[in-house]
Amino acid sequence: MKDRRRLRFGIIGCGLMGREFAVACARWPALLDMRAKPEIIAICDLNESLFDWFTGNFDSIKMVTSNYEDLLSEKDIDVIYCAVPHHLHEKFYTDIIRAHKHLVGEKPFGIDIEANRTILEVIKAHPDVFVRCSSEFPFFPGGHQIHKYILENKWGQIIEVHSGYLHSSDLNFEKPINWKRMIEFNGEYGCLGDLGMHALHLPIRSRWIPKRISASLSKIVTERPDGKGAMVPCETWDNGTISCEVEHPTDGYTFPMTVKTYRIAPGETDTWYIEVIGSKFSAKFSTKFPKTLQTMHYVNGRSQEWRSEDIGYTSAYKTITGPIFEFGFTDAILQMWAAMIDEFTEPRNNMPFGCVKPEETYLQHKILTAALESGKSGQAVEL
Ligand SMILES: NC(=O)c1ccc[n+]([C@@H]2O[C@H](COP(=O)([O-])OP(=O)(O)OC[C@H]3O[C@@H](n4cnc5c(N)ncnc54)[C@H](O)[C@@H]3O)[C@@H](O)[C@H]2O)c1
Repeated sequence: MKDRRRLRFGIIGCGLMGREFAVACARWPALLDMRAKPEIIAICDLNESLFDWFTGNFDSIKMVTSNYEDLLSEKDIDVIYCAVPHHLHEKFYTDIIRAHKHLVGEKPFGIDIEANRTILEVIKAHPDVFVRCSSEFPFFPGGHQIHKYILENKWGQIIEVHSGYLHSSDLNFEKPINWKRMIEFNGEYGCLGDLGMHALHLPIRSRWIPKRISASLSKIVTERPDGKGAMVPCETWDNGTISCEVEHPTDGYTFPMTVKTYRIAPGETDTWYIEVIGSKFSAKFSTKFPKTLQTMHYVNGRSQEWRSEDIGYTSAYKTITGPIFEFGFTDAILQMWAAMIDEFTEPRNNMPFGCVKPEETYLQHKILTAALESGKSGQAVEL
């Protein structure tokens, strides 16, 4: 174990996701067979009150700063995890890559498609830099198993696909506004940009790229408390339903796919789901029932029966956790980081499941931009 390669990380953005990454590093011993391990040596945030939690828990941190450029000139940093609001993605990601630091960025990887194009151009000009985008939900065992079925193309003919990400906390009209509900910081996409990569990760990886899109977007909460006693406009889209017409990438036929990104879905705390319905085989998984994978094998003339199986902790990357136990959000984060570090240190053709690649973030933006256009115009949009 002692000879495992150390990857020295800097974190820019020490909020919700910065801390999740740090905790994944602290849980690294849970992973078996990893050839490298992350070590956090630098952190950066404008909010200095976040620093004590990091420095109190991670002795390896030697740089603490509110200026992200300090990390770019620190020669000991190999990789930067950048988890900042969307309006900063373009500037921060491109500066990080130009400084020859490897990068894991957060979705949507640019506040809009123009920002994303700029980031991708800089990546192209720096082929020595490894870049991935964060998206952890397909690492749930049920999501991972459905991806294996997709690779096997078990479906017969795909009848339809449903994929989505549903939140409910915004149903509380008294929840104060934050940057994720402001166009200036979150982007015009609103819920599409915030949740779309999660819902699109598996469809894009499967090359289920829509030819035609029609979207319905809703603004349900029009103003929110500003936290100082006043009400302010809340202008971002709350919910988006994208109806897609998809051509099967190898078999040529067309099937419908719906992609839902909801900030307001009463009863859903944080539900990611994927359902593939086929003429011979169907499969469904939702994080609402994190143990359970549903499948249906159909043979002509026989009964149509869904089978539910508790698949337990059957993760892409082996851990110390027994297969009968339950898998959760923080496990998905750990698996995603295992995939990133595995691919970085030992790229090969048969990776268990890889993190989102930059070109996949561009496909995401193409789909979301078309959805935004369709939602605003009421017309279907060709991709
Ligand atoms: N993968 C996921 O499941 C997931 C979940 C939530 C958010 N995200 C993404 O992660 C990113 C960050 O979201 P979050 O929820 O962690 O937000 P957050 O608000 O909790 O954290 C963002 C941090 O960035 C800091 N920041 C702002 N401007 C800065 C600057 N100029 N320099 C340094 N730090 C600065 C803020 O002070 C804050 O602490 C977004 O892109 C978001 O879409 C991903």
